[in-house]
Amino acid sequence: MSWQDFPKLELHLHLEGAAPPDFIRRLGQEKSVNLSGVFDERGQYAFRDFAHFLQVYEAATAVLRSPDDYARLISEVLARAAENGVIYTEIFLSPDFCGARDLSAWRDYMAAMQDAAARAEARLGIVMRGIVTCIRHFGPEKARETALCAAETAGDWIVGFGMGGDETRGRQGDFAWAFDCAREAGLRLTTHAGEFAGPASIREALDDLRVDRIGHGVRAIEEPALVSRLVAQGTVLELCPGSNLALGLYPDMRAHPVERLRAAGVKITINTDDPPFFHTDMSREFAALERAHGWDGERFMQVAHTALDAAFCDDATRAALA
Ligand code: ADE
Ligand code: ZN
Repeated sequence: MSWQDFPKLELHLHLEGAAPPDFIRRLGQEKSVNLSGVFDERGQYAFRDFAHFLQVYEAATAVLRSPDDYARLISEVLARAAENGVIYTEIFLSPDFCGARDLSAWRDYMAAMQDAAARAEARLGIVMRGIVTCIRHFGPEKARETALCAAETAGDWIVGFGMGGDETRGRQGDFAWAFDCAREAGLRLTTHAGEFAGPASIREALDDLRVDRIGHGVRAIEEPALVSRLVAQGTVLELCPGSNLALGLYPDMRAHPVERLRAAGVKITINTDDPPFFHTDMSREFAALERAHGWDGERFMQVAHTALDAAFCDDATRAALA
């Protein structure tokens, strides 16, 4: 077995962002939803920049209207991940798109998704856990409601709380209430930081939200003192190199700071973020790292161990994956 075929663990994957274009198109036809502007002439997701990406992402979610739609999406996404050798995945689930932050609706959506995940685990061996995620540009009030949904459903399957969306709006600290609420419910925490905002956003995430991991965090490389802090604290970064290239943060994989962060001693994991949007998957990410940075089986194992240690699942699940 070559090292590319080794089992993989993924900690940063958005459920709606992992929906294949064909899946969204099919649901759109079934429900007569107008998806103009979502796809290009080749049928792929079409976006110009990060702000437009978020708009297209949200437009595509308009076809996802019932717990059954979400169950179908979970089945599809886990099947694709398993094809890539993924044995454990933490997926961002957004009550803002499904269940609309209403607790009773959210419970229905969650039950359908959990059921689909259990079936995928039985069939394919892939283990999934959920991270309930608020959307930063929807504002702190909506994040509170999302955090309450997360807190009420915290347990073996919902293991974390996070925040995605437009990092250039507001400050991380504006969302402290939501993150405190989730922490008190026993959830582990992550937030997107240092993707489209600089090192200050990462410092805010650590100081004001006291997160366990950082989504992206790649722009820590711009501030050596922050890199040292991440190393000293053992903070794990959920790096998504292919996503950063597709959204124009770096021109190519050789210019991406992934290897400089690793060499500096930062704990890093490799993830796909929104694979069909960025024309990537876990196998392609590692193949690109091998080509651009000479990564080999040892690097691959190091990243897998970091992901296993940083996973938000309980220790029994972790032990079973080891
Ligand atoms: N939601 C989905 N993908 C995202 C990304 N890369 N950054 C912020 N929010 C997102
Ligand atoms: Zn993300």
